[in-house]
Amino acid sequence: MEQSSTIIRLAELTDINAIIKINRLCLPENYSFDFFYKILSEYGFACVVSEVDGEVVGYLLSRLERPFSTFIGLNGSKGHVISIAVLPAHRKKGLGTQIMKYGMQKLIEHNVDTIYLEVRVSNVAAVEMYKKLGYYIKREFKHYYRDGESALVMEWGRKQASEEIET
Ligand SMILES: CC(C)(COP(=O)(O)OP(=O)(O)OC[C@H]1O[C@@H](n2cnc3c(N)ncnc32)[C@H](O)[C@@H]1OP(=O)(O)O)[C@@H](O)C(=O)NCCC(=O)NCCS
Repeated sequence: MEQSSTIIRLAELTDINAIIKINRLCLPENYSFDFFYKILSEYGFACVVSEVDGEVVGYLLSRLERPFSTFIGLNGSKGHVISIAVLPAHRKKGLGTQIMKYGMQKLIEHNVDTIYLEVRVSNVAAVEMYKKLGYYIKREFKHYYRDGESALVMEWGRKQASEEIET
């Protein structure tokens, strides 16, 4: 049997339609074309896709959240995972983890010490993946989503991760 080829790479503007298609198939949280365009234009350095045999099958959108004070520049920015999804046929093969690791690395290269995200309390697959990547549950936002479901805010910290490695 022929081996399939998998590539993890930064997302480009030309990936937008594929990303939107995956987003609509996989998640109830959908966004306008303009939103995807804005994120990819401004934060393309932290947005990732996975390609299997030339087809985009997964994506990660993330961005920098700047602190209110612009005085300290970009230092102190947090990374924010906005959306991640892998097409059902390609799940449970490590792609979600690889996409996350690639995106996290890019955020870290932009001086980010903390990365956070929101996830539905019922989304066991995602919560488990984030835990394996070193995220912990920071708080719960009750009725965060339009349908009333609560969100877990999960966070990863560079300091905490290095302490975990040391011990
Ligand atoms: C969450 C998602 C991106 C994971 O992608 P994936 O490529 O299947 O993830 P991985 O193969 O890297 O799995 C990593 C770990 O996550 C956990 N996991 C993944 N799918 C799981 C499932 N269905 N049930 C329980 N745990 C699961 C496992 O701990 C897994 O590690 P293992 O393979 O050693 O058991 C994918 O399920 C998805 O696209 N879901 C729909 C969109 C979504 O919910 N996005 C997150 C919004 S916050």
